[in-house]
Amino acid sequence: MSDTALAADTKPWRDTTARPFISIRNITKRFGDFTAVNDISLDIYQGELFCLLGGSGCGKSTLLRMLAGFEVPTAGQILIDGQDMAGVPADKRPTNMMFQSYALFPHMSVEKNVAYGLLREGKSRAEAYARVAEMLKLVKLEALAKRKPHQLSGGQRQRVALARSLIKQPKLLLLDEPLGALDKKLREETQFELIRIQETLGVTFIVVTHDQDEAMTLATRIGVMNEGVITQVGEPRAIYEHPKSRFVADFIGSVNLFEGQVRDPGAPVVVETPELGTMKALAREGLSAGQQVWLALRPERVSLTRTEPAASDSVNTLPGVVEDVAYMGHMSHFRVRLANGRMLRVTLSNRLHDEDPISWDEAVFASWNASAMRVLTE
Ligand SMILES: Nc1ncnc2c1ncn2[C@@H]1O[C@H](COP(=O)(O)OP(=O)(O)O)[C@@H](O)[C@H]1O
Ligand SMILES: [Mg+2]
Repeated sequence: MSDTALAADTKPWRDTTARPFISIRNITKRFGDFTAVNDISLDIYQGELFCLLGGSGCGKSTLLRMLAGFEVPTAGQILIDGQDMAGVPADKRPTNMMFQSYALFPHMSVEKNVAYGLLREGKSRAEAYARVAEMLKLVKLEALAKRKPHQLSGGQRQRVALARSLIKQPKLLLLDEPLGALDKKLREETQFELIRIQETLGVTFIVVTHDQDEAMTLATRIGVMNEGVITQVGEPRAIYEHPKSRFVADFIGSVNLFEGQVRDPGAPVVVETPELGTMKALAREGLSAGQQVWLALRPERVSLTRTEPAASDSVNTLPGVVEDVAYMGHMSHFRVRLANGRMLRVTLSNRLHDEDPISWDEAVFASWNASAMRVLTE
């Protein structure tokens, strides 16, 4: 199989002929005269773990609730597996939703909580409990089947909720901030668990989160939301490496942004900036001389040296003074004051032991390749 065929197989969004599993078409939701979701169109494919990422109040939960059938769109259409969801009630959709609060029954044991949905559907006890055993094995809670929710840790409760929402074998699981109640360390472990479970079952997951690290860890693709619209959709690496806008560049990871005007739209692009002077940046299509642009530079793409690096057509170099160093163990964050007073954020890896690390008040040269500088037009 060729590389592209393989990519199309495991990454159907790269294949323009692949049929989406979920099609969101021009969906809008208004509450009175407030527009919570504004004309969103989005395709999601079978087996994806798609993350909707955005700040509080940007419309993530509202979009999820419309998919689940808990909220009726003001305009637009939702198709799941080719079927129009208009008028289809929540309990008739091939979806299930896992809430942040987990909503477990406090008086029921773990296994009864998980069995509840199947028993209510009229499945036999034997069949229901066979499925429960499978589910508890999947989320590694077999040993705790008889416990009540208050006898569990936060992470264990989260897994009960997950088992309960998966037992009815939904084709699409909607998870609203599923790890929101867990502390940082447990969250990170649970993220990998969630990926394992999703991959084992092959169920399509849509996960809402406001945590960019979580989205980067979990997602096959991320949809970045802002004020009711999706501003960019892409694989985590593409979003980080090629943000479309200042908003996305700044929202995902840390970035240095500079305003400027294109002088030469060639390769590299030459940009005049009031703050840094003449800069060289990664070539991109569609730029014209004189155009206003912004340059985005990730802190980890900058090198700091005590001596000036050799001049080159593809390297930007500026002198500065180290104003702050935050030693984080695996890396160090620097703030370098450039000659004109502008601060540059720089992150250096501590992968190799450095006998004589660059420190406060040192005069340094900050340098980076043109290819590390992205030209943004919005
Ligand atoms: N039922 C509702 N009535 C009025 N406004 C609502 C309702 N539900 C949500 N909103 C508003 O819509 C916006 C988006 O909400 P939500 O989708 O919950 O955001 P998120 O999940 O991204 O934090 C918010 O400003 C919220 O106050
Ligand atoms: Mg929400």
